[in-house]
Amino acid sequence: MIVKEKALVISQEMIAPDIYDLRLAVSFARECRPGQFLSLYMDDRGFLLPRPISICEIGKESVRLVYRIAGKGTLAFSKLKSHDTVEVMGPLGNGFPLDACAGRRVVLVGGGIGVPPMIGLAESLKELEGEAAPKSITSVLGYRSETFLTGGAAECGSLFAAVEDAEAASRMTAERESAEGAEMGSFPVTHGNVLDAIKANGIEADAIMACGPGPMLRALKSYAEEREITLYVSLEEKMACGIGACLGCVCKSKEVDAHSHVHNKRICKDGPVFDAREIEL
Ligand code: FES
Repeated sequence: MIVKEKALVISQEMIAPDIYDLRLAVSFARECRPGQFLSLYMDDRGFLLPRPISICEIGKESVRLVYRIAGKGTLAFSKLKSHDTVEVMGPLGNGFPLDACAGRRVVLVGGGIGVPPMIGLAESLKELEGEAAPKSITSVLGYRSETFLTGGAAECGSLFAAVEDAEAASRMTAERESAEGAEMGSFPVTHGNVLDAIKANGIEADAIMACGPGPMLRALKSYAEEREITLYVSLEEKMACGIGACLGCVCKSKEVDAHSHVHNKRICKDGPVFDAREIEL
C-alpha cells in the first residue's frame, strides 16, 4: 500500500561532494523492496512537484536515501536536519526481481547516483537462503572521481570500482597497494567505466542488475545481448504524480501499455526496474 506521511529525519550527512545520506523514520519501511523509491515533498509552495529518490537501504523502521543535489528541490532537502520532518510518499515502483537472481552469478552495476539502490539490493540478496540465494554477488560500481558507499557493497560480496578520473583512479590504486589500504580491505579500481572494470577483471555474470546513466545502461544492454545475459535496469526520470496517473515519465516499450494503449511504459508505476529486452534505452 502506498502511504503519504510526515517522516522524521533521523540524520543527514554529506558523504561525497554534493551527495547526501538521509535517514528517515517511516511507518512503511517493512513494505519497501530494493529498487523502489520515495517521493519527497517540499513545504515551500514554490515546489509543487515531489522529487523521486531511490531507496538505498531498508531498515525495520527507517529507510536510507542517498541522493545528489541536482536542483533547487534536492538542494532544499540537503538542508534537512535531525528531528525535522518531511512529507514523503512511498514505497513507489516495482523494485528489482530477486527471483531472477536465484542460483545465478549476479553482477550489480551502479553508476554515479545509480550506486545507492544497488547497496540495498546487495543486502537483500545476501539475506536469501537455499535455492532462492544467488550463486555469487559481485558489485561493479562506477564513479567520476570520488567513491562512496563502497563499504556496504563490499560486505555483501566482491566489489570492483571503475573511476573515470585518471588521477583519482591511480591514487586509489596506490592506496590499495599500500599496507594501510590492504588492511582496510580496499577493492580493485579500474580507470574507466563499469564495462572496462567488468572486462579488466574477467567478471562473469548470469544476471546483471543495473542503475545509472543512460549511456551506461545502453552499453550494458549491448554487452548483455551479445552474451545472452539477463539484464534488468532501473531507470531515472523526472516525475510528477509518481503513481502512474499523469504519463509524465514514460519510456518506449516493445509491448503496448495496457494503461495508455501505446508503446509506452510508465517508469514510476511499471518500473523503475525493467527487463532490458522490454524497453528502448
Ligand atoms: Fe505520473 Fe509517472 S510521474 S505517470
